[in-house]
Amino acid sequence: MRIDPLSGGVASDIAVVDLGDKSICAKFALPKLKVKEDWRAPVHRNRAEYEWLRVAARIAPGSAVQLFGSSEHLHGFAMEYLQGSDVYLWKAALLEEREDRSEAGRVGNLLGQIHAISTQPGFDTAPFHNREDFRALRIEPYLTFTAGRHPEVADELVALAEMLFESGQVLVHGDISPKNILFRNGQPVILDAECATMGDASFDASFCINHLILKAAHLPASRQRLLSGVVEFWNAYSAHIVWEPKNKLEERICGLVPALMLARIDGKSPVEYLSAAEQDRIRGLALGFVKAPTPTLRDFTRELTNRMEGVDA
Ligand SMILES: Nc1ncnc2c1ncn2[C@@H]1O[C@H](COP(=O)(O)OP(=O)(O)O)[C@@H](O)[C@H]1O
Ligand SMILES: [Mg+2]
Repeated sequence: MRIDPLSGGVASDIAVVDLGDKSICAKFALPKLKVKEDWRAPVHRNRAEYEWLRVAARIAPGSAVQLFGSSEHLHGFAMEYLQGSDVYLWKAALLEEREDRSEAGRVGNLLGQIHAISTQPGFDTAPFHNREDFRALRIEPYLTFTAGRHPEVADELVALAEMLFESGQVLVHGDISPKNILFRNGQPVILDAECATMGDASFDASFCINHLILKAAHLPASRQRLLSGVVEFWNAYSAHIVWEPKNKLEERICGLVPALMLARIDGKSPVEYLSAAEQDRIRGLALGFVKAPTPTLRDFTRELTNRMEGVDA
């Protein structure tokens, strides 16, 4: 038997286990995350992850990893290992500026389906009453901590933190990032659901959109495509919104994305690929939009295009 660790994440011990006739992937939660700041989180969050994977497999079987087994006691689980020439990590495709294969729209469509089904009567929310974990893993390190570093927008960030903590509207994944999304045969497979909780739909959509925006700031040659990807994501996602008025959710997303942009620079989990100059620019952009958010995502991406070009010139 051979065990090879997988890299890319900060919150778990994850490895490929070669069993001879097949490979599986085993994942266990870490009590202290591998980041510079002191960031701890309870290991029982591992259960939220495999329960989320079960939900995704029920809703979209062609777009989910197969779960082989789980241990509540060991805080770990085993799943199918995705590999092969038809499998790629979305983050790698974006950073290498590979040809667009409508990934943003496909992710928006899948996420919208999962959110919508979780609002239906009869959906079992029991494994996802995890707002305290969500606070430790997401609200505190991204918003509350960043509010402490930016008194000029602390009120706005704290209000967003409260909004996220109070809601239990949909099944939130909590880490919709290109580094957690593999594409297999052209279909997205979302991994790494350890932050899953009943929460505010705006979080997942904003988290994913934020990643596209950060990469748009970092990669001028892909900028237009990435910002169009934001609108494609939203169009595909918003077709599934049945639990509240679309424009209300869009407004919350327009408020939250700039806060997350700032959080990925000055929060506890900064993105690793931005230069100091890029960080400065994104910080400036984010502060402006936190103070004065746009009403729609189309306006937001248009404004971003203008302001990003302004700083490049
Ligand atoms: N089932 C899997 N098949 C193939 N690769 C995987 C699988 N699960 C995770 N990975 C790879 O390992 C990386 C880390 O896994 P992830 O579940 O995101 O852990 P972490 O919580 O540490 O971020 C992912 O970004 C992905 O590239
Ligand atoms: Mg991950």
